[in-house]
Amino acid sequence: MAKGLETSESIQLPPELRSKLIDIENQFNVSTEKLKQITQQFEKELREGLEKEGSNIAMNVTWVLGLPSGDEIGEYVTIDLGGTNLRMCRVALRGQREEIDIKQHVYRLPPAIKTGDSRQLWNFIADSLDEFIKSHQIIANRDDRLPLGFCFSYPASQDAIDHGILKTWTKGFDIDGVEGEDAAAQLKDVLAERGLPLELVALVNDTTGAMVASAYKDPDTIIGAIFGTGCNAAYVENVGSIPKLKTTLPPDTPMAINCEYGAFDNAHRVLPRTKYDVSIDKDSPRPGEQAFEKMSAGLYLGEIFRLTALDLYESGLIFDRQGAAKLREPYKLDTGFLSGIENDPLETSQTRLEECLNIKVTLDETRVARRLAEVIAARGARLCSCGVAAICRMKGITSGHVAADGTVANKHPKFKQRWAEALGEILDWPEDREEDPIIITNAEDGSGIGAAVISAMTLYRIHGGNTVGIQG
Ligand code: BGC
Repeated sequence: MAKGLETSESIQLPPELRSKLIDIENQFNVSTEKLKQITQQFEKELREGLEKEGSNIAMNVTWVLGLPSGDEIGEYVTIDLGGTNLRMCRVALRGQREEIDIKQHVYRLPPAIKTGDSRQLWNFIADSLDEFIKSHQIIANRDDRLPLGFCFSYPASQDAIDHGILKTWTKGFDIDGVEGEDAAAQLKDVLAERGLPLELVALVNDTTGAMVASAYKDPDTIIGAIFGTGCNAAYVENVGSIPKLKTTLPPDTPMAINCEYGAFDNAHRVLPRTKYDVSIDKDSPRPGEQAFEKMSAGLYLGEIFRLTALDLYESGLIFDRQGAAKLREPYKLDTGFLSGIENDPLETSQTRLEECLNIKVTLDETRVARRLAEVIAARGARLCSCGVAAICRMKGITSGHVAADGTVANKHPKFKQRWAEALGEILDWPEDREEDPIIITNAEDGSGIGAAVISAMTLYRIHGGNTVGIQG
C-alpha cells in the first residue's frame, strides 16, 4: 500500500463493496519495488532515445545549447498553444536581477479547433496575434520584426530550433494537416501571409521553457517537468552523449533534451495497467500512444476515477440504481474534481458528487469515492517520480531543483509530497534525512519567460556567429 493512505479496512462497508474496493486499491497500489523496476526500464528507454532516431521515447534535441546566464535581455513576443487556451505575452527581459515585465492576454481556444484542420488553427493564431499586437501597440522598429518564441507542447522533432515536425498530437488534440509537418514553417507562413511584424526565432517545448525560465533565476535547476494535462520533462545532456546526433558541435557542448517521456512503455512491459487504463487508451484519439501519460497526467486522472466509479455502480454496489447518466459521460470529471473529492471536508465532497452526477450520494458512498480519488492520484504521483528518478540515475545527478509546472503539480495539494516520498523510495534516500537532496520547485513561467529567454539565447548565438541548429 502506498504510504500515507489509509486502507478501506477502516471504512465500514457492506462486504461485497468492501472487497471490490480493496481489489481496486490493490490494482492501483505501486510498491517501492515496482517503482524501482519501472525506473530501471525508464532509464533503458531514455538511453535508447539518445542512441537512435525512432525510439519509443523520442529524446528530442532542442538546439537550446545549455542554460541561460541570467544576463539575457530584450523584448520578445511569445505564444503558447495550450489545451484550453492560447496565451500571448510580450516579455521584456532586463537580466536576472531585475523584474521581468510581462503583458499578456489569454484567448480561449474554440473547442472545435482541437479537432478541426490546420488552416483553422493557424488562422485563429494569426487573428489572435494581430489583435494582441494592435491592443498592446507592439510596434517593431522600422522594418525590423520582433522576435517570437512559440511554445508548442507536443512531440516535435527539431532539425533546428525554429523547426519542429509534429510526430503525433497528444492530450486529446486531433487537428488535421499538422502531424508529419513542420509546425514552425506553418506558423511562419501564416505570419508572412498576414504581414505580421514578427519573426519566429524558436519553437519551444513547455518542459524546456520551464527549465530555462527557472534557471534564469535559479542556478540549481536541473530539470524542467510538467505534471499537467500531459506529462514530460527536459534536462541538459552533453552533445557527446547523444550518439544519434551528427553535428559539428564539440562533444562537451550542453544541449537541452525534450524527453517526450509520456510515451514511456508504449510496449506495455512494466507499467501496472488496470482495465480502466486499457479502456481509456482504447477510446482515445491515438490508441497505443502515450501509455505513461495516460496513467499519470491530469487529462486522464478524472476519467480513471469516472471509470472506477462506473464499475462499482454497474456492479450494483453504489448509487442505488439511480440512473447516474452523468457517470457515463466521458471526460466529465477533471483533476480539480478529483482533488476536491479527496481533500475537501466530507460533506463538501458529498455535495460536489451530488451536483456533478445529479444523484443522491450517501456519506459512505462519499468515503468510497474519496478512496478511489486517493488511490488514483497517489498512483499518478508515484509514477511521475519514476521519470525524474530515471533522468537523475542516467546522468548521475544527486542534488538540485526540479522546476515543475502544470495543473496537477499546482492544484493537487498532495501531489508534491507523494512525488517526493516516492522519489526517496526509488533513490534509497535514508528515512531519517533532514532534507531531500533533489526537490521539486515551482517553475517560473516557461511558456512566457522561458520562450523569451530561449529566443534571446538564440539571437545571441546568431550574433556570436554560432548558427548550428538555427535555420533563420
Ligand atoms: C506532450 C509534451 C508536453 C507534455 C506536457 C505531452 O502530451 O507530448 O510535449 O511537454 O504533454 O504538456
